[in-house]
This record gives sequence, C-alpha cells and structure tokens, in this order.
Amino acid sequence: MTMSMAASHAADKRLKDAIFGAAAACREATGKYGADKVTNATMGVMMDEEGKLACLPTMERVYRSLPMEDLIAYAPIAGLPDYLEAVVDLTFADQRPEGYTAAIATAGGTGAIHHAVANYAEKGSKVLTSDWFWGTYGVICRENACELTNFKLFDEQQKFHAEDFTGKVSEILKTQDSLLVIINSPAHNPTGFSLTEEDWDKVLDVCKGYAAKGKKISLLVDIAYIDYAGEKQETRRFMKKFGNLPENVLVMFAFSMSKGYTFYGQRTGALIAVSSSKDVISEFTEISKYTSRATWSNINRGAMTLLTRIQQDKAALAQFEKEREDFYKMIQARGDIFMQEASACGLDALPYKGGFFLSVPAADPAAVCDKLHDDLVFAVPLKLGVRIAACSVSSAKMKGLARKVLKAWKAVEG
Ligand SMILES: Cc1ncc(COP(=O)(O)O)c(C=O)c1O
Repeated sequence: MTMSMAASHAADKRLKDAIFGAAAACREATGKYGADKVTNATMGVMMDEEGKLACLPTMERVYRSLPMEDLIAYAPIAGLPDYLEAVVDLTFADQRPEGYTAAIATAGGTGAIHHAVANYAEKGSKVLTSDWFWGTYGVICRENACELTNFKLFDEQQKFHAEDFTGKVSEILKTQDSLLVIINSPAHNPTGFSLTEEDWDKVLDVCKGYAAKGKKISLLVDIAYIDYAGEKQETRRFMKKFGNLPENVLVMFAFSMSKGYTFYGQRTGALIAVSSSKDVISEFTEISKYTSRATWSNINRGAMTLLTRIQQDKAALAQFEKEREDFYKMIQARGDIFMQEASACGLDALPYKGGFFLSVPAADPAAVCDKLHDDLVFAVPLKLGVRIAACSVSSAKMKGLARKVLKAWKAVEG
C-alpha cells in the first residue's frame, strides 16, 4: 500500500483470518461437486445433521413473541438488571463462589474479552494465554496496546502443562506488577480440552502465590462453550474455587449467548466478575460501564429480554434446556466418532472433551489442509495444527474423517 491516511498506530492493522480462507475454498468445491460430496469442517456454528444452521426452537419461539418495543428501545448501558442477574445465575448455576459479584452486558463474548483486556491489562504489558488459542485474543490485545504471549497447553501426556504455565507467569512477573491471564475452559476452542479441578487448583496456587508477593492477578475464564461441555453442575464445579481469594486476585468470566442460545449474530454476552473485595467489584462496574459507553454504548435489548423471558418461565426453560441438551449430545457424538477412529487408526488428535472443535497437531497445518482437499475435506489451518469443527460436520461425514486426516498428515509429514 503506498498511500495511507491512518494514524501511525493503526496503519498496519490487518485481520488475518485462516477460517474465512478455508471457508472460501470450501464454497468453491461445494459449487463444483455438490454439498453431499464435500465435508465442511471450517464452520464455527452448529449445523444440524442435514447441514442446516441449527436453531434452538424455544429460543426462536420466545424471540418471535417479543413485543416490538423490546426490540427497538435502548437498553441501560450496563445492561438490563434482570438480564445481569440471570446471567450471573446461568454462569454459576449451583457453583457460585463466595464473594462479591457483578456483571456488565457486552457485545457477545468478544465484547467481554475486549473489556477485560481494555481495563485489566496495562498498556504495553503481556497478557498470557495457552499456545492453542482463539486468534481473536491476539487481535483484542493488539487493539488495546498489549501483547499476547503463550504457555504450552499440553505436556507430553497431553495433560494440562502446569509447569509451563507456572514458568511463564513467573517470567512475566519479573518485569510486570500485574498480569491478565485468559483461560478458555471448558470445551476449549480449538481443541475441545477442559482443565480438570486439579488443573484449576494449580492455576490458582500460582495466582495466590504471586498475589502474596503483592502482584495483581486477573484471571479471565472464557466459558463460550460451557453449554456443550457436559452436565450443568459438573462443568461448573471448578467455579467454587474462586471464592475467598486474596483481594488482589480478580476472576472474570466471558459469557456469550452466541453458542448457548444459537444467537451468534445478535451479539450478546456479559463480563462477570468475582472478588473478595467490595471495592474491586464497584470499580469493575464503574470502569466497565465507561468502556461500554465508549465502544458500543448499550447492547441488544431484544436478546437480553429473550434470555430473561426464557429464564423466568419454568416450562419454557425446561423445554429450552432439553433442546440444547439434544444439540450437545449431537455434537458430542460427532466428536466421539472422530476420537474413537483417531485412536483406532493411530492419528494423534488432541484430547477432545467436548465443545465445537477438535484439533490435530501438525508441523505444516496449511499443507495438511491443502492435502485434505483431495478428499473434499475442508478444515482450518492454525499455527500448531488443523482444526476440525465437530459443530458443523454431520455424524455421517464424521465417519472416516480421522482416516482422511491421517492420510493427509502422512502425505505431508509422515
Ligand atoms: C473461544 C471463544 N471465546 C469467545 C467467543 C465469543 O463469541 P461471541 O463474540 O460471538 O459471543 C468465541 C466465538 O467464536 C470463541 O471461540
């Protein structure tokens, strides 16, 4: 580019999105060979077994019943009070940690991550997340003048690499007084991995250790896929651990309606905070509200009302949860097919526990994805491997997919 009008700090912003590239190649193949022949493992949304965008019926019914006023009126900047209360209940279910809590409405989970980075990472500082991670974390950090850095998510046994996490925190805190850590669990994107309760104990031990030395630690738990990770209480049990932490350890949760309500495009989520300090929580509310005002003002009122309506109507809620459970089982069954076949044919897939995605490590992920095109399979090349969307590939097409990935992997790297 020869001519630029952008401010100097903005001129070299470029969104590199491996997903859209892979999706474009897939569209071309679908046009040429027909949807039946093509496996589209690139999508980040849930498709039903017929290949249609899945929609929770109760969500649709309640949404269509909302009065026009609920769709067009402004909402309070912090979010509708009933929505915020419901979101806190939904986040914790019966596993609410002891302490003060607050929530702020955000434009999707993305908005929640944005607010956490904007307000809890010092400009110029390093933010820590795992080496397998959702690329948007890096974009948000960069936009907020921070730098995303990584610890290794897996050790040699494909377990949580607590040692590397500890080492990276220690290294960063040699030069920083505060640190924001982002952990996406349960049902991590892109691997489907979830930290165990013991893994969380180790994470918290490290946080508490540095808090005792006067460091300020903020932990953002990204729970975008929690509704597709297993039983409600089981998947949330780790949250109890966040009670009674030192006041210089703040825990936040990025809540999203995108997956849990099949409401991706309506851009609704929340950032929830837990602290043993009342001051920290009051400050959280004030500064988050300010950042909302400065970015999107208030968010989608209709979507907030929808969530509250479902939550307040016992029959609708029971029906909604049943429908979502069915979708969860559908995705889990697809992931399980892949994992069983991977283990049978000797493909080294990462430990998928649940959620929308699973991944296979590769030295040259782009070449493996290109090779997969020979079998009309389209997946996303990430830095460390190939991402397969269990959310969008039907069970029928999942069958035999691990073998195809192994074949492509061997052709490139074997
Ligand atoms: C890991 C992760 N976190 C958060 C989100 C938030 O999504 P949204 O902004 O649509 O709520 C996504 C969506 O793809 C995600 O993959």
